[in-house]
Amino acid sequence: MDAQKPGPQRRPLVVANWKLNGSRRSNQALLEALVAGWKAQSGSAEVAICPPFIYLPQAAELLEKSEFYLGGQNLSQYSEGAYTGEVSGKMLAETGCRYVIIGHSERRQLFNETDELVAEKFAAALSHGLTPILCVGESLEECDGGHTLAVVGRQLGVVIDKVGLEAFARAVVAYEPVWAIGTGRHATPADAQRVHAYIRERLGVQGETIQVLYGGSVKPDNAPELFAMADIDGGLIGGASLKSEDFLAICRAAG
Ligand code: PGA
Repeated sequence: MDAQKPGPQRRPLVVANWKLNGSRRSNQALLEALVAGWKAQSGSAEVAICPPFIYLPQAAELLEKSEFYLGGQNLSQYSEGAYTGEVSGKMLAETGCRYVIIGHSERRQLFNETDELVAEKFAAALSHGLTPILCVGESLEECDGGHTLAVVGRQLGVVIDKVGLEAFARAVVAYEPVWAIGTGRHATPADAQRVHAYIRERLGVQGETIQVLYGGSVKPDNAPELFAMADIDGGLIGGASLKSEDFLAICRAAG
């Protein structure tokens, strides 16, 4: 099978995950540089920025006249009520978000989010009209043990059981091998392609049209070869999304 493009027509998407980084001052400089740079390079990819919750209104204002979309990094499974410290999908939507990252491995590992909770959050995102970006991926041990597809299949399966396959018509999936996040080690394009193809297969007819992103140490120098694979539609970018030149170069590689 030829794993190189062109494949079915899916719009490339690049998502910036700022994680717990930023300040009002640095956000403004970064977003202004991104908006100006993207306008100058007039790319065709969709681009979304996911800052920490507290900076969403600032980012919404700075991105208002741009083509960039806004997203949250997490959301509560609840819509409202006595849940101290939580932020709901309703609030994200009201603040101008189109996307929300769900089940990032840092949330699964550091904040004990289970497959079931991730599925509830996925459903909550959809119920508020947000597009969930569902993160899946295996740990280093699971990878070394040859369990990658089984782990990714299980993580997808719990969400499919909860919301049904049709719900994936309004979602994005990001394959992020845990061992590649923030480590400088990325999956080879061929290995990532194999997992992406499996994700599509698992999603049935939705698999043909859904955007499937790769994440984990995507940088300007490896983005072109990763994004050239038939089933990789773009990236979920952590560290490199904090530098305007790097992030713009990655967006350029996507389209
Ligand atoms: P990284 O993070 O690009 O810094 O590896 C990716 C992610 O966590 O989404």
